[in-house]
Amino acid sequence: MVFFLGILALGVFLVATAARAALEQSSDFQVGLNVAAQAAQKLYFGTATNADQWTDKTYFDILKDDSEFGQITAANVMKWFDTEPEPSVFNFTDGDVIADFVKATGKRLRGHNCVWYNQLPDWLSNGTFTAPELAFIVERHCFTLVSHYRGQVYSWDVINEPFNDDGTYRVDIFFNTLNTSYIPLALKAARRADPHTKLYINDYNIEGIGAKATALKELVRSLKASGVPIDGVGIQSHLTVGGVPATLQQNMAEFTALGIEVAITELDIRFTALPPTAAGLAQQKADYATVVAACNAVPGCVGVTVWDFTDKYSWVPSTFPGQGAACPWDENYVKKPAYAGITEGFLG
Ligand SMILES: *[C@@H]1O[C@H](CO)[C@@H](O)[C@H](O)[C@H]1NC(C)=O
Ligand SMILES: *[C@@H]1O[C@H](CO)[C@@H](O)[C@H](O)[C@H]1NC(C)=O
Ligand SMILES: *[C@@H]1O[C@H](CO)[C@@H](O)[C@H](O)[C@H]1NC(C)=O
Repeated sequence: MVFFLGILALGVFLVATAARAALEQSSDFQVGLNVAAQAAQKLYFGTATNADQWTDKTYFDILKDDSEFGQITAANVMKWFDTEPEPSVFNFTDGDVIADFVKATGKRLRGHNCVWYNQLPDWLSNGTFTAPELAFIVERHCFTLVSHYRGQVYSWDVINEPFNDDGTYRVDIFFNTLNTSYIPLALKAARRADPHTKLYINDYNIEGIGAKATALKELVRSLKASGVPIDGVGIQSHLTVGGVPATLQQNMAEFTALGIEVAITELDIRFTALPPTAAGLAQQKADYATVVAACNAVPGCVGVTVWDFTDKYSWVPSTFPGQGAACPWDENYVKKPAYAGITEGFLG
């Protein structure tokens, strides 16, 4: 009896494996994600990365592959704590590793970021500054950082995460001391530092129409009305399986109607319970396809970036315990159905 059940299980397994292989052959375009993006007239498909992962040869081989990635974002090393660890003492050693790799491979670079409430050096987060002092510090930081990479960066996240989810301004050291004036200050300093890079404001929970997206549209409108340089909005898109907002495409179109471009800048679609089921992986594939197709349908959406491409190095499990499996490659570098979802989103 046990023997019979064993044979039966083996049979079911073999049929399922054959079906899966056939499915992959029929639906999984193997052209590469960046090839698919460019075939769809987008500028790039990209990924965030950390250089300490590059000793992992399998990781690095996929990262380098231009057919997969045409754009790179430094996940951490261009942030304030890394680039200005002491007041006016700048250190671009770690950032340059990323920028040099990008230069050598001919990919595009997104700069990330100039002004954010998080990952600040202690001297700044613990300091007490008058408004004129902090205004000077913000200008000096943005100008020096963006100047250092002048001519090398396709777009900069000059302002990162300025809003609360209800659309009010985040109360942080910058807003507390400078009200909203730090935003035009930083954007103008970045423009002086590099006249040709695209200046972005980047945020999360602005994927669908709602209070936070509305606040950001209002900010873009008012910056434009007062002649402050603003070129784009980064829609981070840290999403959950089954949770892609239905208004994503309309929302992106509303942003671009303001005379700016948009990009999906930090895409991952995580499972809130693990391990993923087969149905869950199919839903995740559909969700990746939906996000990419929305970008595809909006001419001003220039590209899509994932916040790392493999579950092995995803930020999700450490930030959302018990959640994960958010990336298109699993932790063993096997492409998940999500990978085919991305190419389907670009190629229709
Ligand atoms: C700059 O950063 C690098 C990498 O983190 C570090 O090794 C180096 O000591 C730093 N340089 C200075 C002058 O602090
Ligand atoms: C400075 O701020 C950091 C957090 O950025 C905190 O951990 C640390 O205790 C603070 N140090 C002082 C002396 O307040
Ligand atoms: C902050 O700036 C806004 C305009 O951006 C203004 O309406 C508001 O009164 C200012 N708040 C304070 C406390 O100055």
